[in-house]
Amino acid sequence: MKKILEVKDLEISFDTYAGKVQAIRNVSFDLHEGETLAIVGESGSGKSVTTRSIMGLLAGNANIENGQILFNGSDIVMKSEKELQKMRGKEIAMIFQDPMTSLDPTMPIGKQVAESLIKHTKVSKKDAMAQALELLNLVGIPNAEKRLKNYPHQFSGGQRQRIVIAVALICYPQVLIADEPTTALDVTIQAQILELLKDIQKKINSSIIFITHDLGVVANVADRVAVMYAGKIIEIGTAREIFYNPQHPYTWGLLGSMPTLENNGERLYAIPGSPPDLLQPPVGDAFYPRNEFAMQIDAEQQPPFFDVSPTHKAATWLLAPQAPKVTPPEEIQIRWKKFRENAFED
Ligand SMILES: Nc1ncnc2c1ncn2[C@@H]1O[C@H](COP(=O)(O)OP(=O)(O)OP(=O)(O)O)[C@@H](O)[C@H]1O
Ligand SMILES: [Mg+2]
Repeated sequence: MKKILEVKDLEISFDTYAGKVQAIRNVSFDLHEGETLAIVGESGSGKSVTTRSIMGLLAGNANIENGQILFNGSDIVMKSEKELQKMRGKEIAMIFQDPMTSLDPTMPIGKQVAESLIKHTKVSKKDAMAQALELLNLVGIPNAEKRLKNYPHQFSGGQRQRIVIAVALICYPQVLIADEPTTALDVTIQAQILELLKDIQKKINSSIIFITHDLGVVANVADRVAVMYAGKIIEIGTAREIFYNPQHPYTWGLLGSMPTLENNGERLYAIPGSPPDLLQPPVGDAFYPRNEFAMQIDAEQQPPFFDVSPTHKAATWLLAPQAPKVTPPEEIQIRWKKFRENAFED
């Protein structure tokens, strides 16, 4: 499959009063045409910063210290703001978490959906509005034709998120980035929105980067999953590889901490401890203090990636040839088996 996006050795820091925060530490991954890549990881692991850098939308105190973001072969990092504006919304579009802040409360929704088309292409206003209507129908806004002149507050939360999706899709972007697009919604609506994204992807063959801290929602949506911890990708593989054969103890913990249908109301497992302070990134493996299987080398050196399969790799010293063979704790294994049974449709 064709690579549409190649992120190579990306390092991003932020200047803060307390010092430099090393938010993204040597991140590399590819995105192929038509695929859905999920990025998962705890709060603060660097999911949003990574994807905002792809949109050229980093905060003013950010520094891209190193790396390339190749989009169809040309480097986004080197693009001027003018070039970025041409790309944003047209070739790469983003859906944010909160539909209320991504919609303009003072503009009717038809106009909002059509806006990006009018900005980026030579289409007439009338044609743009017709396409907006088509897309609003596609994303499932009832009576869309009669509601083009309505304002965002006249729609429910789930409908607003559908409108946000229509805004993002109007130019048929090659890459769609969805940053926690459903967290603000209740579970049934979440599932509907995810189905919708999958359907639309089939129709327009865009590639999707889907960010979430909930592994459950990605099981049926993602082709591949990248797990981030403390500014790094620590494991990446196909969804099946990550759910059925995870290798990094952090991924074990994440899978173990997912709620399953059966343990509704039951105490949830949580990975003990908290992530490191990225003002002073650790010399060794960032997961070392929370890793019950840690070895001396974890304190001293960052692990390289070890290949598990041609499509699966993980950065943990547990995969070094000389490491002892360890298995995840039984409590966690039981939880993730249950979770898997519920999460995958087949
Ligand atoms: N403008 C900024 N100034 C300073 N630090 C920042 C800034 N933006 C992000 N960071 C830091 O970069 C790190 C990564 O943040 P990011 O928003 O990517 O996390 P995330 O994985 O998206 O988390 P969440 O799940 O909570 O959205 C965090 O340590 C965060 O505090
Ligand atoms: Mg985020």
